[in-house]
Amino acid sequence: MTSSATEDVDERAPRPGEVVLESHLTAEDLAAALRDDARAGLQSTPKRLPSKYLYDERGSRLFDEITRLPEYYPTRRERALLELVADEVAEVTGAHALVELGSGTSEKTLLLLDALARAGTLRSVVPFDVDAVTLAAAGRQLAARYPGVGVHAVVGDFERHVRALPRTGGRRLVVFLGSTIGNLEEGPRARFLADVAANLGPDDAFLLGTDLVKDVGRLVAAYDDEAGVTADFNRNVLRVLRRELGAELDEEDFDHVARWVPAHERVEMHLRARRDLRVAVPALDLVVDFAEGEELWTEVSGKFRRESLTAELEAAGLAVRRWWTDPDGDVALSLSTPVGPARAAG
Ligand code: SAH
Ligand code: TRP
Repeated sequence: MTSSATEDVDERAPRPGEVVLESHLTAEDLAAALRDDARAGLQSTPKRLPSKYLYDERGSRLFDEITRLPEYYPTRRERALLELVADEVAEVTGAHALVELGSGTSEKTLLLLDALARAGTLRSVVPFDVDAVTLAAAGRQLAARYPGVGVHAVVGDFERHVRALPRTGGRRLVVFLGSTIGNLEEGPRARFLADVAANLGPDDAFLLGTDLVKDVGRLVAAYDDEAGVTADFNRNVLRVLRRELGAELDEEDFDHVARWVPAHERVEMHLRARRDLRVAVPALDLVVDFAEGEELWTEVSGKFRRESLTAELEAAGLAVRRWWTDPDGDVALSLSTPVGPARAAG
C-alpha cells in the first residue's frame, strides 16, 4: 500500500490491483478538530458534539451491528433497492470510477460495483471515510474482490474535502448511501451538495440514498433498538472523549435518547445526564457541569420527501434524472447530474 499526505496529493489514478491510500485528515488533525469541537460544543447551550466522532474503530463496528438489527430497516431496504436498480444505474451512467462518500464497509456498494463490472466499464473505486481503520480494511477487500480495478482510498471529512476528491479516471459515479446525508442539518447539507456539484464533471453522476418520512413509531425504533446497540453506539462518543481528552465521563451516567422532531422531520439523538455531574476535561483545561436531565446532542437523522429533496438538489445545481423507491416505499435512491451552463443553455 502506498500513501501520500495532503501536501503531496497523488493525482495519479491507481493502477489495477493497486491500493493507493490518501489522507486529508491525519489522526493528529482529527484530534485537533475534536479538541476545538469539544471545547465549543461542551460550552454551548444546548451542549452539542459533531457526529463524526462517533465513528472510531469501535463506533464503526457498532454501526455495522446496527445495520443488522431488526428495527434498523434502512440498510436492508436500501440493499433490496440496489439489487433492483444497480444494472440500470450502471447502464445510464456508464461509469468508469465509483467514488463513495462515507463508505464505511462498502458492503452494499458491492452491488453497484458488480453491476459496473458486468457492464464492463469499471476501472477504479474511491472509498472515502473519516474512519481510517475501517476505510483501509474496506480498501483491501475491494482490491481482492476486483483484481483488475484500482482502489484509491481517501481519508477525509465530507464536510471539508469533497471538492478535493480525485477527478481522474474517466466518467465518475459519486455515491452517498445509507441516508448519511440526513446526518447533516439544512445549512451544512446545502453546502455539502454544492461541494458535490462542484466536484462533478459534465459526464459524472450522483447517486444519493435517503430514508423517507414514515410512521413515527418505526422511525424512532430504528434509533432506539431493544438490544441497546444504538444506545452503545451513541455512548461511544463518551469513550472517545475519555480516550482523546481524558474527560472524566462514564457511560452509566447517561441515557440514550432518540426523539422525532416533527418541525424538522428528523430523529434527534441525545445523551441525557442521569444525575448532576461535574466533568473535568483535562486536555481542554475545562470543567463542564451537567444538570440532571440535561442533554448532550450527538446526532440528527433527517428524513426526506421527494419534492423537497429534489428542490434541495436543484438549488445545488443538480437535476434528478431517476428516482426509485423500494417496494415498501421506505427508502429512495436518486440519480442526479450537474446542470452545467452548457446544459442549461441546451
Ligand atoms: N455507507 C455506509 C455507512 C453509513 S454510516 C452505509 O450506507 O451503511 C456513516 C459513514 O460515514 C461511516 O462510515 C462514518 O465513518 C462516515 N462518516 C461520518 N461522518 C463523516 C464525515 N464528516 N466525513 C467522512 N465520513 C464520515
Ligand atoms: N446514517 C445513519 C442514519 O442516520 C447513522 C445512524 C444510524 C446513527 N443509527 C444511528 C447515528 C444512531 C447516530 C446514532 O440512519
